[in-house]
Amino acid sequence: MNNPMESAEFSRNPYPLLAALRAGGPVQRVRTGKDRTTWVVTGWAEARAALADRRLSKDTARYFADRPSGRDLAPAVSRSMLATDPPDHGRLRKLAMTAFTPAAVSRLEPRIREIAEGLATALAGTAQAAGGGPVDLVEGFAAPLPITVICELLAVPDPDRAAVRRWSDDLFAAADPDTADRASHALAGYLTELIAARRAAPGDDVLSGLIAARDAGDRLSEPELVSLAVLLVVAGHETTANLIGNGLLALLRDDALRARLRDDAGLLPAAVEEFLRFDAPVTLATFRYATEPFDLGGARIEAGDVVMVSPGGANRDPARFDEPDAVRLDRPAPGGHVSFGHGPHHCLGAPLARAEARIAFAVLLARFPALRLATDGRDASDGPDGVSWRRTRLMRGPARLPALLGPIA
Ligand code: HEM
Repeated sequence: MNNPMESAEFSRNPYPLLAALRAGGPVQRVRTGKDRTTWVVTGWAEARAALADRRLSKDTARYFADRPSGRDLAPAVSRSMLATDPPDHGRLRKLAMTAFTPAAVSRLEPRIREIAEGLATALAGTAQAAGGGPVDLVEGFAAPLPITVICELLAVPDPDRAAVRRWSDDLFAAADPDTADRASHALAGYLTELIAARRAAPGDDVLSGLIAARDAGDRLSEPELVSLAVLLVVAGHETTANLIGNGLLALLRDDALRARLRDDAGLLPAAVEEFLRFDAPVTLATFRYATEPFDLGGARIEAGDVVMVSPGGANRDPARFDEPDAVRLDRPAPGGHVSFGHGPHHCLGAPLARAEARIAFAVLLARFPALRLATDGRDASDGPDGVSWRRTRLMRGPARLPALLGPIA
């Protein structure tokens, strides 16, 4: 039987299916696994509870130890903090945090703005060369911005950035597991060499900071450093590209919202939170594995069960959000979404992702005040110039956003 969560329709609009699941209960058994019971959590309260519950493990390597062919993470990432439980998790996270602080991110902001301005200038050039015709805001802006920022964080030299982006893309999107495995090994191999070079000649980049990071005499080992560097690339690239792409689509589909944000940049932080809620970049799920039996949202989870917590489902739960399917900047408590997870594994890169998105929207709206979709937001299935969607298993965002820049400010 075809899995509806892997259909093109689900990539285009997953919300009817997530709502139908939620209507049956906030925690639903689904038949995605061949031999293990798998649950999907689409209720907001239940998602928060699951994300913070210690009886649910993130240790993919342990869980899949008996099934070398069944894995949901690249080998290098499966040893990172994302895939570890206490006490290792706390240790890895604390060490990484000493270099990856909100202050380190805010120091990066001027450089993020410079990169975004450079991309906007290149977009204008492309549009001019095409006689004012449409440009693709994903390929020309939403996708290159985050990977360039991460490469700067890790001090990846310019000529190597295209390869880093390709490996990272293949890790997620490759149709066959062999290509994904090759990309994972290539990326880990490359970052191992980069770490050796930085160790020999430290700079003021975040990677050098991570190499030097100490916590009461403790340091990151070589494999831990490589895993962390791979994690930063893969966790921060497609996710943030999807946030910018989804947010752009939401604001390009709404003329009044676009005008408000263009005229008052002070609204951008609230808009970024609402875009995160409205279209979670990690839409379908983050995974957990039950270590003991327990009850969740009326369901009996058994030890060994897989629990998929769906940010896209939780963020549209009407029990938590009024008019969940509308973009509204006047929500009483902006945020409250679980797009960055919740609890001990809450996204370490959230301040960076928020800054990138805020700057991306500010730059585009200031440079192209008359920016609009080339096709009135049509889907690609409606015509050749329409919006089309990336097809990856867990994430969602536009693959193409054809837009007309209009006169340049
Ligand atoms: C963890 C989403 C950007 C680094 C997570 C988790 C989510 C998430 C849902 C938790 C996974 C779980 O609990 O199972 C996102 C989204 C982003 C984004 C939607 C962009 C909009 C970034 C960036 C970086 C980053 C830019 C760094 C460069 C991490 C790391 C973790 C993480 C290191 C693991 C934290 C831990 O296990 O303690 N992210 N992320 N993320 N994210 Fe992000």
